[in-house]
Amino acid sequence: MSDLFAAQYRETRTQLSEQACVLHGYALDVVDALLTDIRAIEASAPFRHLVTPGGHVMQVAMTNAGTFGWCSDRRGYRYDRVDPQTGTRWPALPPAFLQLAANAARDAGFDGYVPDACLINRYAPGTRLSLHQDRDEDDRVAPIVSVSLGLPATFLFGGFARADKTVRVPLQHGDVVVWGGEDRMRFHGVLPVKPGLHEILGEQRLNLTFRKVK
Ligand code: SIN
Ligand code: FE2
Repeated sequence: MSDLFAAQYRETRTQLSEQACVLHGYALDVVDALLTDIRAIEASAPFRHLVTPGGHVMQVAMTNAGTFGWCSDRRGYRYDRVDPQTGTRWPALPPAFLQLAANAARDAGFDGYVPDACLINRYAPGTRLSLHQDRDEDDRVAPIVSVSLGLPATFLFGGFARADKTVRVPLQHGDVVVWGGEDRMRFHGVLPVKPGLHEILGEQRLNLTFRKVK
């Protein structure tokens, strides 16, 4: 990317629907801080492959920061204050995470956003996330703020029923997607990540999704 193109790309926004948009390059200025924080989080709460209630091992590796962490096992999906793998509380949300999430939410039209959970997803090449709704949170109106780092991906953004048509949204390192309000319950997913080598993150894509659980 040329510097001029990069600078212009950073300023742009793609509106996905009334209350959903992509803020291109929005996280680029804070990538170093985010990666330092992610390394600290994974040192105490390692990435792991969760098992779905149906008994499948999830392709995406996950960990959490915040008061609540999203978990899945044979008993179901839920939020827990304690990491079941370590028996201790999830690492706190770092200030750089909270600031980025609040700024992105505000610029997307959601003032005063204070998330209490951040799911961190790690995608190796070939890894996908099938179409789903984020429905384990009590708050179904506060936005989801989703930060993409590393290898690019194609995000699928759909309707309120699984079978509804989806749009394909290309996501680059530093892009932030926000969906809330009337669009909060839309189905979404990620197509298999293409093989590649990202200059900072190598052969992986990381995604932070902020949520307000309680
Ligand atoms: C998610 O839906 O939890 C993650 C979306 C993404 O990785 O972009
Ligand atoms: Fe999701």
